[in-house]
Amino acid sequence: MDHHQRLEQMMRIARQAGDKIVQARRQQNFSHQYKGGDELVTEVDVAVDRLIANELEALFPGEPRLTEELSPDRSQLEQCGALWVVDPIDGTVNFAYGQVHVAVSIAWAMDGEVQLGVVHAPFLNETFTAIRGEGAHVNGGAIACSQVDTLERSLVGTGFPYSRDKRTPLVRRLDHVVHVCRDIRRNGSAALDLCHVGCGRLDAYYESVSPWDFAAGLLIAREAGARTGHLYDCPAGLPAELYGENLLVSAPAIHGDLARLLRHADAGGQPGE
Ligand code: IPD
Ligand code: CA
Ligand code: CA
Repeated sequence: MDHHQRLEQMMRIARQAGDKIVQARRQQNFSHQYKGGDELVTEVDVAVDRLIANELEALFPGEPRLTEELSPDRSQLEQCGALWVVDPIDGTVNFAYGQVHVAVSIAWAMDGEVQLGVVHAPFLNETFTAIRGEGAHVNGGAIACSQVDTLERSLVGTGFPYSRDKRTPLVRRLDHVVHVCRDIRRNGSAALDLCHVGCGRLDAYYESVSPWDFAAGLLIAREAGARTGHLYDCPAGLPAELYGENLLVSAPAIHGDLARLLRHADAGGQPGE
């Protein structure tokens, strides 16, 4: 199967998963649990993960999968070869609260490089896609990131981890960003935030997230012309494209300035200094 055919299948599976998510919200009879203390997970997250796993296994038997709910074993990131990286519901809190920023994210990587990405937003009827080296699209139309060139004119997306005690340093970053940039958005789906950088609905996005949150969206943003990277060096032995700590993705012209601002915040500098 060539890349285009593989992407077609990924889109079909993501839309099928999205239909299940929409149906589950209509029925409103799913249970809520917590993993690791504060992280919400519903039975729909698990059911959609299973649906995607079954579909991928039927079409691509034996290809390893890193998925948030059913196979979150990150040691797979150290292996060569093919790897599926899947978030069945990105934006679980939004899903549970009846909000629309919810996505199914499916990426396919080869030797640590993401080749194909699909982010499908079932409540918004938008499917973002990218093939490495061939640009990015939403519902079949090409997308491009913004060409903003100052932080003052930049709308910046971010997010916060479930663990409240990890939020303090992020509040420092926030303090700097709201003092310097146009404004901030916290929409609750990292995958969609990245796609929104890709189509100019955001000028930048920064956060620390897991591989399934960003693998597809990062490719989509980059293929749409955004500059992608990390605030600090990535550890050796892990593919940078699947390493989610301190991600920064933005319109190309503001990347350096925003990276400096965030590092200044991390170093304890004062806003405006
Ligand atoms: C979360 C979302 C959110 C981000 C969190 C993620 P989930 O994913 O992407 O925007 O801020 O860090 O964990 O839990 O809804 O799949
Ligand atoms: Ca997620
Ligand atoms: Ca999830």
